[in-house]
Amino acid sequence: MRMEGTPEDVFRRRTGVPVTGSTRRGQWGSQIGFILAAAGSAVGLGNIWRFPYMAGQNGGGAFLLVYLVCVALIALPVMLLEISLGRATQRNPVGAILAVAPGSRWRYLGYLALLTGLAILSYYSVIAGKVLTFCTLYIRRAVMGGAVTYSGATFEVVIYFAIFLVLTVLVVSGGVQRGIERWTKILMPLLVVIMAAIIVRGLFLPGAMRGLRWFLTPDFSKITPRVVLNAMSQGFFSLSLGMGAMLTYGSYLSRKDNVLRCGVWVVVFDTLIAVMAGFMIFPAVFALGGDPAAGSTLIFQVLPKVFGAMEGGGLIAIVFFLLLCVAALTSTVSLLEVVTAYFVDERGWSRTRTVWSVGGAALIVGIPSALSLAEIRPWDTLVLFGKTGFLSVMDFVWGNLSLAIGSLLLCLFAITRWRLARAAAEIEEGAPAFAPFKGVWTFFVRWVCPISIAVILATKVFSLG
Ligand code: PHE
Repeated sequence: MRMEGTPEDVFRRRTGVPVTGSTRRGQWGSQIGFILAAAGSAVGLGNIWRFPYMAGQNGGGAFLLVYLVCVALIALPVMLLEISLGRATQRNPVGAILAVAPGSRWRYLGYLALLTGLAILSYYSVIAGKVLTFCTLYIRRAVMGGAVTYSGATFEVVIYFAIFLVLTVLVVSGGVQRGIERWTKILMPLLVVIMAAIIVRGLFLPGAMRGLRWFLTPDFSKITPRVVLNAMSQGFFSLSLGMGAMLTYGSYLSRKDNVLRCGVWVVVFDTLIAVMAGFMIFPAVFALGGDPAAGSTLIFQVLPKVFGAMEGGGLIAIVFFLLLCVAALTSTVSLLEVVTAYFVDERGWSRTRTVWSVGGAALIVGIPSALSLAEIRPWDTLVLFGKTGFLSVMDFVWGNLSLAIGSLLLCLFAITRWRLARAAAEIEEGAPAFAPFKGVWTFFVRWVCPISIAVILATKVFSLG
């Protein structure tokens, strides 16, 4: 399909409203640039820290099965929707909504996206700081010998958290397009290779097969409303959906780019890494002794044991934790970029002023999360939604609930305001292969996604299990 016209005509056709404000934006150097940045946003601690932790607490094989179903049936359609809304409007989340529905209350959905981005950035950077700490612990051991022990000293936790935020700010202040493209192209395949090596070592440990079986055999009796909510939300979290990251990255795509291919590729790659993380952790948990349901400290307990059992494990540990830092950095960059794009596009702030202000806000918001990881745990007695501790509560509220609610509202917005026919036409532009799937996709975004997200949220809330 190729309909021409002035840029204003094109904008009206795609959004349903005339141009408001400027439509000129930076774009990715190439389609591969978008794929790499989007995959960089998706692949991160969500795959390697959060996925095993969730799978471990939610029944192993049962969780994996529900996760894969949710990714294919709910997250993939939402992914295409988010990218296409971004590309159609060439805006940040708030701007995109206002471009389609000027002055409407739907803009609060955009604000929710920004708030969620800031909240996730705050506690995600705390965990990323812990990964960075492990890098330095292994480097120190390589140089000076001794044991690797994570002290959790308050000062250390806060400093590494701050360092990680500053790194994020520095990358985003240079503009997302530069930098990320070059890094991810080399470092992400390298991460896959290192993970493969760790998996192979783990599988040869005596007793590893029990862990493998536990991870791959679904026990259907374990599928409860809580497991389903956690699996679905993990899908949104891992794919960076429901808070405008894919929308914002999609806004830097050009009309010639293939939204379908980009979306499918990111989903497949991200899922591959998550499943690999499962293969990396669970055989080792069963072989080396550990509790799969240990929670948010799972990988930090298990991996040092695997590295200890590996020939040259100290060196591999350094490379692995460094790569994981980079993977986490490309994710925090996307979180910060969403909020930054809003202030730059809509408020006319300079990029530099925005990134430092938002980074500073994330630092303040993240302090309680950092403390809940450190020795003083002033909020250790905080119990909300069955979660204990500030960081876990933050992760549940923003990483689980808010992303699911954001994705649900995005579907409703597309159905009632943007119109799915327009969305489908947007995806098809640049992706002729989408034509035969238009009907199916529309059916999913209109019925399957919103109804299942709503039902899953409601069952969980009412069952309180
Ligand atoms: N998807 C990222 C990860 O798996 C985290 C993230 C969530 C990034 C939401 C952006 C938005 O690590």
